Amino acid sequence: MKRIIDAPVVAHDADFSARLIVWQKQHGRHQLPWQQTRDAYRIWLSEIMLQQTQVATVIPYYHRFLQQFPDIGALAAAPVEQVMALWAGLGYYTRARNLHRCAQAVVQQHAGVFPVDIETLAELPGIGLSTAAAISAFAYGTRAAILDGNVKRVLCRVFGIDGFPGQQVIERQLWQRAAALLPEHDIEAYTQGLMDLGATVCTRTRPRCALCPFQSRCIAHQNNRISELPARRPKKITPEKQCVMLWITHNDELLLEQRPPSGIWGGLQSLPELARLGGNQDAEDVDAEVRYALADVGEIIELRTLPTFRHAFTHFRLHVTPVKVTLAHRYDMAAQAAYQWRSISSLDSAALPAPVRKLLEG
Ligand code: ADE
Repeated sequence: MKRIIDAPVVAHDADFSARLIVWQKQHGRHQLPWQQTRDAYRIWLSEIMLQQTQVATVIPYYHRFLQQFPDIGALAAAPVEQVMALWAGLGYYTRARNLHRCAQAVVQQHAGVFPVDIETLAELPGIGLSTAAAISAFAYGTRAAILDGNVKRVLCRVFGIDGFPGQQVIERQLWQRAAALLPEHDIEAYTQGLMDLGATVCTRTRPRCALCPFQSRCIAHQNNRISELPARRPKKITPEKQCVMLWITHNDELLLEQRPPSGIWGGLQSLPELARLGGNQDAEDVDAEVRYALADVGEIIELRTLPTFRHAFTHFRLHVTPVKVTLAHRYDMAAQAAYQWRSISSLDSAALPAPVRKLLEG
């Protein structure tokens, strides 16, 4: 079993399905090629194609597939290369490979007949719980809830469900809601109605609320929150770190530090750093800390704090405050093997991190 839908804990809401079914019959789509059949093979094929592709793009592919593979046996027996070639242009090619594997599984494990049971359908390659429900509803009239991206949007708006629908707790809530809303009859019109409403009225941008059967009860509409719901994926909070980078020169040499093999800039040579200093710290404090840290490195002639710059890593942002230090005299640092004095004229061949090279080259 792939996933479990909890028993509904949300009250049934007969008004929702009643309005939607009436609306679908009057204003919904009725002439799509896969609506003219109850053949589970054709319905399955359309649902897989429609998972990530718009109706207008799918239609010619759907016809070509049926011409080439009129039934599940023909598709299962075909070489996978032929299936891939026919799918070319539809994108998301895992769908094509799964389509072929699914056809073979239905032939071998289910005598060529798509199962009615949602959980069993959802075990097949490429069929999630929502697609399983759509196939079973359209082919067999099974009373089962669908929940694709469009349906999530409709439910979030009509019921004012806050929170990012990709988040597990919100998704559970949406499945419960979707299950509680199912009508006793007319599951085909109801399911098609959800798809039609999401695709033609309750669109992501500029929804046509004036045409919506739920306008008078839609929580998002009542609260002027259509553009806020469904909530977007929360932005990741990127940690901010800071350091001082020491640009220390003595005559025509620069002090470099070998970075440890793992971690950022692993194995490269970089400027020595003083962690957690700099950023928006007072320049005078930075100056004092640097002088203290360099007490046993050499005798300072000049010390200048340069403007802080920012460098983005995958998991954090580093605010770097470079401090340029000129030494009159340097002490012996032989004991510290990670440090190396290197002639400035040979820096071209040094393994420096890009932002460090950019700093040094101005
Ligand atoms: N999107 C997913 N399934 C669909 C269907 N059966 N009709 C129209 N659009 C869809």
